[in-house]
Amino acid sequence: MSKITISAVVAFLLILAVVPFSRAALNAHYYDQTCPQAESIIFQTIRNASIYDPKVPARLLRMFFHDCFIRGCDASLLLDSTPGNKAEKDGPPNVSVRSFYVIDDAKTKLEKACPRTVSCSDVLAIAARDVVAMSRGPWWHVLKGRKDGRVSKANETINLPSPFSNTTTLIQSFAKRGLNVKDLVTLSGGHTLGFSHCSSFSARLQNSTDTSINSEFAMSLRKKCPLHNKDRNAGEFLDSTSAKFDNDYYKRITMGKGVFGSDQALYGDDRTKSIVDSYAKDEKRFFTEFAASMVKLGNVGVIEDGEIRVKCSIVN
Ligand code: HEM
Ligand SMILES: *[C@@H]1O[C@H](CO)[C@@H](O)[C@H](O)[C@H]1NC(C)=O
Ligand SMILES: *[C@@H]1O[C@H](CO)[C@@H](O)[C@H](O)[C@H]1NC(C)=O
Ligand SMILES: *[C@@H]1O[C@H](CO)[C@@H](O)[C@H](O)[C@H]1NC(C)=O
Ligand SMILES: *[C@@H]1O[C@H](CO)[C@@H](O)[C@H](O)[C@H]1NC(C)=O
Ligand SMILES: *[C@@H]1O[C@H](CO)[C@@H](O)[C@H](O)[C@H]1NC(C)=O
Repeated sequence: MSKITISAVVAFLLILAVVPFSRAALNAHYYDQTCPQAESIIFQTIRNASIYDPKVPARLLRMFFHDCFIRGCDASLLLDSTPGNKAEKDGPPNVSVRSFYVIDDAKTKLEKACPRTVSCSDVLAIAARDVVAMSRGPWWHVLKGRKDGRVSKANETINLPSPFSNTTTLIQSFAKRGLNVKDLVTLSGGHTLGFSHCSSFSARLQNSTDTSINSEFAMSLRKKCPLHNKDRNAGEFLDSTSAKFDNDYYKRITMGKGVFGSDQALYGDDRTKSIVDSYAKDEKRFFTEFAASMVKLGNVGVIEDGEIRVKCSIVN
């Protein structure tokens, strides 16, 4: 071997050692030969479901994030609990993971069209892109070829970042998955869609020393989430245009109107503040970066030695 080849091999091995997760090579054309209609089947199922239930887009976007952060993007979140095992979907923050039936419906149709070909983790990655595009956000090519995992544990959901986290903790949580500070700020923009229950932010409202929150906004949240709240479904939308994917989330953070402590914290830290400002000013830039960061999120912890699950809620 020449010197150059050897140093190239060494460099390659070094890269392998540094990359936090073994990455199966994903590909935008993965199903071109084996299931060319996969993406249109998924899109139609999701569009139909979203017409019947407008909460579906936000739920599927959050589902993808949640899945990728625990054990990587391996559809572990889609598995049901079994008599011997409590699964992720029954773990602590489960009030907010819903609408699994939409992914299951898409998968049933895919099994008819191209049996045992399209993984549940790829269905979820495509669905997350489609709900963003459908909500008038950006569109991107989804890389595919993920395999589905066989393990799902409720207690591992404690490793999700919390809405009470400070920026340092959020940065660390993302870094563990190979995502940088910009990815953190950019992907937090997913909160342009959807809703939160009071329990995820009401502790902030009782904190009189927290000056990061706009006082009128705090008052309106206190009305929705009174101290002895009996309504488990009460809560607030995460930005003022919760069905439209736009940069309103960032504009609101600059005004002290972020719903979660973790959202607002991004504007109180020098490492993240200028990125928030740039997205609040420039929606196009946010869209471009969001697409890029979603592709990175979709690479987290992708596995090679999994299976193509036949039914997304149970292992083969
Ligand atoms: C930065 C760390 C993050 C934290 C701490 C966080 C936390 C939360 C919490 C607590 C909720 C509300 C749960 C509830 O009470 O119902 C929520 C909702 C949501 N999150 Fe995040 N999240 C984070 C990042 C992300 C990312 C990266 C995405 C997607 C790209 C995302 C998308 C969503 C969406 C769409 C909803 C609304 C769900 C619905 O309306 O049903 N989040 N998030
Ligand atoms: C559309 O969604 C509704 C509600 O989930 C469902 O009952 C119906 O079967 C769906 N239709 C198609 C063609 O998927
Ligand atoms: C959510 O978690 C609770 C407590 O762990 C559990 O009792 C419940 O069955 C889970 N599932 C749903 C859909 O609420
Ligand atoms: C979850 O529980 C298993 C045992 O059932 C344990 O081995 C594992 O360390 C726990 N994980 C976390 C994150 O607590
Ligand atoms: C951030 O939160 C962590 C965990 O709660 C804590 O240990 C740390 O001191 C906090 N950092 C700052 C700068 O507040
Ligand atoms: C209240 O807010 C202050 C300032 O943001 C923060 O340092 C403190 O940890 C908060 N206290 C609680 C109990 O959340």
